[in-house]
Amino acid sequence: MIVEAKSLRKRYKDVWALDGLDLSVQEGEIYGLLGPNGSGKTTTILILLGLTEPTEGTVRVCGYDPVREPLAVKRVVGYLSEKVGFYEELSARENLRLITRLNGIPEREAKRRIEEALEQVGLKEVAGRPVATFSHGMRQRLGIADVLVKNPKLAILDEPTSGIDPEGAVQILDLIKRLRDEAGMTVIISSHLLYQVQRICDRVGILHRGRMVLEGTVSELTGGGEGLLAVVEGATAALRARLEGEEWTRSVEDVGDGRLRVIFEERARADFLRIVAEEGAVIAELRPRTRSLEDIYLRYFQG
Ligand SMILES: Nc1ncnc2c1ncn2[C@@H]1O[C@H](COP(=O)(O)OP(=O)(O)OP(=O)(O)O)[C@@H](O)[C@H]1O
Ligand SMILES: [Mg+2]
Repeated sequence: MIVEAKSLRKRYKDVWALDGLDLSVQEGEIYGLLGPNGSGKTTTILILLGLTEPTEGTVRVCGYDPVREPLAVKRVVGYLSEKVGFYEELSARENLRLITRLNGIPEREAKRRIEEALEQVGLKEVAGRPVATFSHGMRQRLGIADVLVKNPKLAILDEPTSGIDPEGAVQILDLIKRLRDEAGMTVIISSHLLYQVQRICDRVGILHRGRMVLEGTVSELTGGGEGLLAVVEGATAALRARLEGEEWTRSVEDVGDGRLRVIFEERARADFLRIVAEEGAVIAELRPRTRSLEDIYLRYFQG
């Protein structure tokens, strides 16, 4: 495990921001740390980086204890903060150069990495402009370039797509995925936009009030391959009986006004359509029964 946190609790005055959080991240995975505002994502990240101490519990990051060895952790971990700060009067390129100097990256290597990172985040054209003239999305991209030039083993990105337009967000996420695939970087990405990050995450953990309430692969959580869901209109008792008699039917539910909600296995699609037609009913809706992370999340919080 590249990250291992056990029974973390963090108290800010009278609030428990974290209340018994366990977190493990494997080397080479993209882990999505998800949850609504105030659920403890940023607090968790600050603890992993040694930027704040847990009130209780233990943490290991890349083999180091962030509480005792914060500098060692900062050397191997790239961090995109929620509030990215730059030297406003310096250009994007100059800001990156400062980072490479601070990290002791040799000049020639630094130049190469800076140009590559600027290209990757799509800031090449504006790299000579002072950061003071940058929009929020451009700053966010520069923050990611900042992580890239360090070429860290582990990148921790706190809301990397916040304030970026949808198309830009897709580009950034694809870039993060490429870094994992090509450079073998481990990535922890926090977000409250589940639908956005679920595509690239190998595993996700959902926080709620400082605890991990759900964790797993996206397909485990969304119940991938859960068959098809159909709503049939004009259903008769005979249709219901026939459907219930099929071994590929998972459930049949009467939803009123002669409508049935049927869940069945995907392979039986043709049989299902034929039976419905033979019984003179009409299909009002037919779709894969996959739940988005958003649904799971809403269902969890409503329940
Ligand atoms: N410095 C602080 N002082 C006091 N309370 C804090 C501090 N930082 C965070 N909190 C509280 O701790 C809880 C968790 O906050 P945290 O910032 O970790 O949430 P988050 O999941 O990152 O939220 P967001 O999606 O809004 O970024 C919240 O109740 C917050 O008000
Ligand atoms: Mg946060």
